[in-house]
Amino acid sequence: MARFTVLGTAPIPGQKGQLRLLQRNDEFTIKIAGVPGDLMNSRMHGSEDALATLACEHLVNSDNARVLIGGLGMGFTLAAALKTLKDNALVTVAELVPEVVEWNKGPLGCVAGYPVNDARTMVHVGDVGEVLRNNKASFDAIMLDVDNGPEGLTSKDNDWIYSDHGIKSAKAALRENGILAYWSASDDTAFSKKLQKIGLKVKAVTVRAHTAGKGAKHVIWLAW
Ligand SMILES: C[S@@+](CC[C@H](N)C(=O)[O-])C[C@H]1O[C@@H](n2cnc3c(N)ncnc32)[C@H](O)[C@@H]1O
Repeated sequence: MARFTVLGTAPIPGQKGQLRLLQRNDEFTIKIAGVPGDLMNSRMHGSEDALATLACEHLVNSDNARVLIGGLGMGFTLAAALKTLKDNALVTVAELVPEVVEWNKGPLGCVAGYPVNDARTMVHVGDVGEVLRNNKASFDAIMLDVDNGPEGLTSKDNDWIYSDHGIKSAKAALRENGILAYWSASDDTAFSKKLQKIGLKVKAVTVRAHTAGKGAKHVIWLAW
């Protein structure tokens, strides 16, 4: 079997960690150096697609929908959102690691069909937390997949996103009838309760890693 080749490495801003992009034939993975397993693998994106289809379902016929995605990863959530939304939508995608954006414009872009190049995409290089804090009543859907889930992995700073303050900022960044969606590698009843305590209605949806309905089970919380 062919071996993986390292295509690029990138420091994680504000952290000691490093992201690594690897390729083997038509398979790409993004790993965190020194951490077992993949942060992302191009062969498994059913749950990343579902994050967008579930969060944007109510916007299929909406004009001028405005949505926020954090982070970009391999671009699957972004591609699925663009597929669901109309031509006059605007999708802001916040990505902490500048090199991830470059990889998506370059060798990695083919896996999701180069969604960063879509005219409706606006890339914000930086922390999605900043975007949440600086935009009030701005988005019809907010999709957050910046980490392994409430337990974190990439960056300790991401704990804020899953904290009371972070959730309240995300709620404040929603337009009327907007939806928040959080991806997580595994279920976490404490996080469901936290969302409810903040006054949000919550639905936890189990999704599979593979598009064919197979593979590991992940969770998407929809909150409104
Ligand atoms: C699991 S991947 C996202 C996968 C994505 N849903 C997809 O479809 O490929 C997580 C991404 O979030 C980025 N990230 C981590 N912390 C972030 C933050 N605070 N703000 C924005 N992006 C962040 C990582 O660099 C990584 O690219």
